[in-house]
Parts: sequence; C-alpha cells; structure tokens
Amino acid sequence: MIILIDVGIFAGPSSKEPPVAQLGTELKGYGVSVIGTRTSRPEVTGPDRLTDVLPRRFADVRQASMSLGARLSDEDQTPQSMTDASPAKWHLAHTSWFFEVLLLEQFVTDYVAFNAHYNYLFNSYYETIGDRHPRHVRGLLTRPSAEEVRAYRAHIDAAMTAFMAAAVDLDNADEIANLITLGLAHEEQHQELLLTDILHLFSHNSLSPAFQPYRPIPAGKAPNIEWLEFTGGVGEIGFDGDGFAFDNEGPRHQVMLRDYRLASRLVTAGEYLEFMRDGGYRRPEFWMSDGWATVQAQGWSAPLYWQERDGDWHEMGLSGLRELNSQAPVAHVSYYEADAFARWAGKRLPTEAEWEVAGQKQGVTGNFQDSGLLRPRPTEAGPGLQQMFGDVWEWTSSAYSAYPGFRPVTGAVGEYNGKFMSNQMVLKGGSCVTPEGHIRPSYRNFFYPHMRWQFMGLRLAEDK
Ligand SMILES: [Fe+2]
Repeated sequence: MIILIDVGIFAGPSSKEPPVAQLGTELKGYGVSVIGTRTSRPEVTGPDRLTDVLPRRFADVRQASMSLGARLSDEDQTPQSMTDASPAKWHLAHTSWFFEVLLLEQFVTDYVAFNAHYNYLFNSYYETIGDRHPRHVRGLLTRPSAEEVRAYRAHIDAAMTAFMAAAVDLDNADEIANLITLGLAHEEQHQELLLTDILHLFSHNSLSPAFQPYRPIPAGKAPNIEWLEFTGGVGEIGFDGDGFAFDNEGPRHQVMLRDYRLASRLVTAGEYLEFMRDGGYRRPEFWMSDGWATVQAQGWSAPLYWQERDGDWHEMGLSGLRELNSQAPVAHVSYYEADAFARWAGKRLPTEAEWEVAGQKQGVTGNFQDSGLLRPRPTEAGPGLQQMFGDVWEWTSSAYSAYPGFRPVTGAVGEYNGKFMSNQMVLKGGSCVTPEGHIRPSYRNFFYPHMRWQFMGLRLAEDK
C-alpha cells in the first residue's frame, strides 16, 4: 500500500515539546532502587540556566549513570570485551573527567585535580589534552577500584554543584552553561555505551548474565509494511533551533530530494530470518565487496547476538539469552548486513536526508532507555511512520561527512565530532538504550560499516 505524505519540505525546524519521562522504574538491584523523572531539556538560553535548570539536569543525569552502575558488581565493571567497548567503570570515570578537565580546571582558579594521574587514564581521544592510556587495554585497569571511581564521581558532583552556583555571576557564564550542557549530553551518550558494552561483555559468558530481569510484553504481531510516499524537491536538514545540538548537526542547509518512499516500520527479526534462510550470508550478489570480505573473514551467518539452539533461534540481550522475537525489529546488524538485506528485498536504505526530512514531522517519541525495557519491541498497526525514534538506530546509505559550512571550534571540544568524519556511515533515530530526550531529528550518530554491537537495525526505502 502506498500513502502520499505531505512532508512540508520548506518548513523550518519543528518545535519540540521537552519530554518529561519516567526514569528508572526498573532500576533495582544491588540494593538500589531509584524512581524519579528526568527534568525537561533546558531550552532557555543565558546564564540563568546555571541557577535552576542546569543544576537539576546535572543531578539527574549524574544519578542516572550511577543507577546503571549500581546494577553491576564491581567485577562486572572492570573487564573490556573488545577495543570498541569500554569497562563500565571507565565510562563512569571518563564522564567525570570530562567535567573536571573542560570545566573545573579551566574556570576554577584554585581547583586541584582529584588525582593527578586520572587525566592520563580517563582521556578518551583528545589530542589537545595530551597523552592517554591506550584504548585497547582499558580493561587492564583494576586500579582505581570501582569504589574509588564512585568517590571520584562524588568529588566532581560536589565541585560542579558549587561551581554552577558561583559561575552565574561570571562574564562567561553563558559559555560555561553551554559547556555543562555539552558535558551532560556527553554523559548521556556514555550511558548508552555503558549498556551496549556490558551486553557485549555478558555475551561472552556462557552463563548469559542478565543486566536486568526479563520483562514480558504482550505478544504483538508486526503489521504489514505500508509504503509512505514523499514528494521530492528542495528540503532542509540540520539543526537550527534554540536548544542544544552537537556541532556536527549543523549548519542547517538545503538538500535536493527525488520522490521517494519509506517503509512504515522497521525490518523485523522474522524478515531478517527469511533473508538468512534464502542463503543471504552465502550469496555474494547482495553484498558490497568490503561487506562480503567481512562476512568471510568473520564467519558471519546471523546478527551479532543470535544463537541457534536445537533448531530454534535465540538472542542474547540485556535480560539474558531469550527465544528470538520474530516480530521485534532486527538489531545488532552492521551496515553491510543492512545493505545486503535491502538488496535481497529489492529495496535500498534511505539516505540521511530522506530520513531526516521525514523524521522532522514526527514526534520524538518511542521506546527509549527510560521505558526500562532495554530491547526493541514490535510496533503496533497505526497510521504513518512508526518506530522512527527509539528501538534501533537506523542505518542510512549516507557517509558521515561535514555539512556545508561546518567548522569545528578550536580547542579540545573541537575534537568531539569533526575529526571522525571519514569512513563512517550515519545512523538516525536513537535506540532502546538511548536516554529519552537525548535525540532529535537532526541527530547524527556514526559508526564504521562493520560495527554491530550497538542496537542497530534498518528501515527500507525505495525510489518512487
Ligand atoms: Fe567520551
């Protein structure tokens, strides 16, 4: 079925109501129970943020990280399962280091570092800031202990709280507020990484450890795909609003689109299984050359966390190894696999611009981390585009490169996004482990095409 959509292609950025979501209704374990709400996004500008919105947001975001860590033992928090992943303990420390180095050490005259060695241990990739502990051996850091990292966090929390109260009177209070906002968005990114990295770690353990108890949901059946038609022309993508966005989301600019169609929902695990059963992983005609080489080299025959046991497919998730839900979106596939599936289906992946122009008209609602489910769920029948936000990041066919007019800022913060603009692909929409409110239609996630340990899936597109 084809449905014509008026995408309002000349419209400016849609106004977004800041969401107030239930947080952590399932945050129980290791004696910790946290029930609360995330405060709304700070859409206000100016130094007033430092006296009201930002201190509350700071406390909420920092507590959310601690709540995730509290569900892990100190042993869970220490190992590193691969170079791309980091120990949970390292995430908790590095996010504190970010505030210490980019704010406290820059703006507090008499600030003394919590531990002079931590700058080396917890700098991730900032050349401007100096040498660092090699990424691939972060799992060897049995010291500092998880307990010492918690003490580090408490120190940073206290110092930042005092700093925010004092900074409101400074001439550069607005600059400081912007940096704190960046630090909070950065910490939310690491909350997602903490979850995907712990899943990768647990997937190597034959006990199939569960990060949280399994929560059953009603057995849904994915509706048939509808093909939603978008009229081409000159569209606009990129961020140009008052609230926060990462630098790589701008400048907003015009794009030329041909008429196109998007599938109304994500590709399901059951549909992906059909691709596998049709020899998808054995038929080179569906694959990019690099993708086919990766399939051979890695011995891929299924998505990352799928296991066949006694003829039935199972999937490792944050609630342990469970029978595969064929109606839920397929997750943990690489760009190569997403692209091969689309070719097998006679379709293609959407471009970033196609996805974003369609996504601008959607409310930013969906199955995010705050639902507590921590896995993608089947969609229900409904009009228009479903699952644009949450569930799984959607691979696009667009390379991650600079928008026209993009200039990284000078200094360490300029290394945040810009220097990664080569050889990676853009993903859109957030996932079931993305914190609610973190995402926007203009949000650009990016990963190398072979990576699949994030909650990554796909939506099909086709030409009109
Ligand atoms: Fe980071």
